[in-house]
Amino acid sequence: MAQILDGKKLREKILGELKLKVESFTQKPSLVVILVGENPASKIYVNNKKKTAQNLGINSEVINYPSDITEQELLDKIEELNNDKNVTAILVQLPLPEHISKENVINTISPSKDVDGFTPYNFGKLFSGSEPVVYPCTPKGILLLLDEYGIKLEGKHAVIVGRSNIVGRPLSQMLLNRNATVTVCHSRSENLSDIIKTADIVVSAAGKNVIKGEMLKSGCVVVDVGIFKDENGKTRGDVDFETASQVASYISPVPGGVGPMTIASLMLNTVELYVKNSG
Ligand code: GUN
Repeated sequence: MAQILDGKKLREKILGELKLKVESFTQKPSLVVILVGENPASKIYVNNKKKTAQNLGINSEVINYPSDITEQELLDKIEELNNDKNVTAILVQLPLPEHISKENVINTISPSKDVDGFTPYNFGKLFSGSEPVVYPCTPKGILLLLDEYGIKLEGKHAVIVGRSNIVGRPLSQMLLNRNATVTVCHSRSENLSDIIKTADIVVSAAGKNVIKGEMLKSGCVVVDVGIFKDENGKTRGDVDFETASQVASYISPVPGGVGPMTIASLMLNTVELYVKNSG
């Protein structure tokens, strides 16, 4: 039976330490989250981010625009926040409505306030093997969780299922930096289960892919980034926990695995930006 990678527990530890750090600052860091439209999942995420920040003593504001805001209005707001000395960190919650170019929006955020690490400057740094201002939150949280449990990455075969800019692509680079052998699979990959069978570490961030115990190598480490509600309203991930936990040595649950670590990383990144920009 696999050991649980407990993201909730590690989040509490990280937030406890961060709270003391924030208390020692003369001014409070400030995180501004922009939410466009009424996506119910996004609303929950954004409120969690705000609440967690406020509990740490980080000023946090959510700016909620109607879904018919123009791209230009949104870009103007980001420029205003870029120039506001009281704003430490800017996060534009994704996805955005279709009439707004995600690329234009992300390109407008100042790299020094880019708490997601999504701007071309920060992505470019990451993909060229040097240091971005901060690392993207979900991959960062995954590595913190693996490190907490002493899981060795060097020389190991890590298979990532999913090539999104939020998880798969940046995680591939961060695992390479740690000397893992990295395979990135996606919806068009052939022989997906053969590839997964060779993995020492499996990260599933594909959305609707179901990974079952029989697809896994015995003793592998499973990280589940998926999150959705099943037909009974139960929160589930990409991985069939019942069967996978019989085969794996470590497994992250949903909920309580990667989700809390993403929030913890966002708080870490906000504080890192504060320290870098006030130094
Ligand atoms: N939507 C889902 N995950 C994320 C994230 O990490 N950052 C942003 N900005 N939007 C998201």
